[in-house]
Amino acid sequence: MGQQQTVIQEPEELDESAVLVGKVEDLKVSKRIRTTVNDREVVIFHHLGKYHAMDLRCYHSGGPLHLGEIEDINGKACIVCPWHKYKIVLETGEGLYQGVNHQDPKRTKQWFSKGKKQRTHKVTVKDGKIYVTLSDVNERCDSDFYAKEKFNDEPCPDPV
Ligand code: FES
Repeated sequence: MGQQQTVIQEPEELDESAVLVGKVEDLKVSKRIRTTVNDREVVIFHHLGKYHAMDLRCYHSGGPLHLGEIEDINGKACIVCPWHKYKIVLETGEGLYQGVNHQDPKRTKQWFSKGKKQRTHKVTVKDGKIYVTLSDVNERCDSDFYAKEKFNDEPCPDPV
């Protein structure tokens, strides 16, 4: 039998630009926080012991992701936008869609990735507090278009 190793976890370092958004104990109860970080609307989820931050407004038409349900799709936790049911992976911001794999003779439906569509942000937990550091906005992401729009939770128009 091998020797058991003790893993010493380093305390998380805070970025200079990290912004305090809440307390661990509060998020464990509410499971999500809607907030604004440097004038950008952001939602932070606590799901299965992990924290995820992303732009609050859906990349498709600006739907309020903090009001969506979380579903497991192919082993990936996804937020389902309440407006048109787009699926977004919490961890990566990838958009998922279901389609037919034409390589498959049975033509079964499968989930595919559209790539990163929703901007995600870094979450740091330190001393019972949760901080968010915005990701580099110089790299374009589809959700940027709605990130600074001011919405009043009005329904978005039907897609054309
Ligand atoms: S606004 Fe999110 S799916 Fe349309």
